[in-house]
Amino acid sequence: MQILDGKETSRLIKQEITEEIAALREKGAKVPHLVAVLVGNNGASITYVDAKVAACEKVGMKSTLVKLSDTISEDELLQKVKELNEDDDVDGFIVQLPLPKHINEKKVTEAIAPAKDVDGFHPWNIGKMMLNLPTFLPATPYGILQLIERYNIETTGKHCVVVGRSSIVGSPIANLMSRNSYPGNSTVTLTHSRTVNLAEITRTADILIVALGKPEFITGDMVKEGVVIFDVGITRKPDKSKKSGYKLYGDVNFEQVKDKAAFITPVPGGVGPMTIVSLLKNTILAAKGK
Ligand code: GUN
Repeated sequence: MQILDGKETSRLIKQEITEEIAALREKGAKVPHLVAVLVGNNGASITYVDAKVAACEKVGMKSTLVKLSDTISEDELLQKVKELNEDDDVDGFIVQLPLPKHINEKKVTEAIAPAKDVDGFHPWNIGKMMLNLPTFLPATPYGILQLIERYNIETTGKHCVVVGRSSIVGSPIANLMSRNSYPGNSTVTLTHSRTVNLAEITRTADILIVALGKPEFITGDMVKEGVVIFDVGITRKPDKSKKSGYKLYGDVNFEQVKDKAAFITPVPGGVGPMTIVSLLKNTILAAKGK
């Protein structure tokens, strides 16, 4: 079994990005600017957004964190989105999800200018992705594709089973893996909570991408020998023995599958860090597109 080391791969990509940003600075060009909007105090969201802002700093990109109270109204948030759409200094921005219940996430996502939608969540950008037109790919699927490329994982003709049909991960990665390109050219099965005999299907996977949010859901008996596994899940459970007070769990029972898998992403340190570099790459793309 070989670990698909997202931490190390993302470090290398961040080095490349650092050089690219330094070259822009030297030319006197504008340094790409990412804004992250965080509404409320969701612990996981705070961690993710802080990591995104820290990554920008690390590579020399400009970043701004906009923290808003969870009592903000939908209209006020939409007004903030409008301001960011119109601010020429901002190349790209994200509104971290989930949003408080009283705010319609779809409405907010659709209010973001597609040219600044570095999460790739706007329907226009999703439509472009489906048509294989140049656009911002959603960060987690894009991160998985970059790991596949950097580790030269064969995807052509392989059976890729995706578990989970979220609009952020499952649906887009299923589309991307079936594209006529590399990575891609896989035969994809998209499974979800209503799938019958899931284990029978996952056992036929050459590539298994799990994005479900259910800790250790995939057990050893659900995979075949030689499978390549991307574990997208990341669930926090309280753990007093940890300094942070919690332990992170993937959607895959690592111990049970590790001797069967040819390649596997660990949690943490697998797909997560790749998601962040994808966002940086999308922000550079947004700045170039302006
Ligand atoms: N919540 C979980 N993942 C993401 C992401 O990639 N982008 C945003 N905006 N919110 C998220």
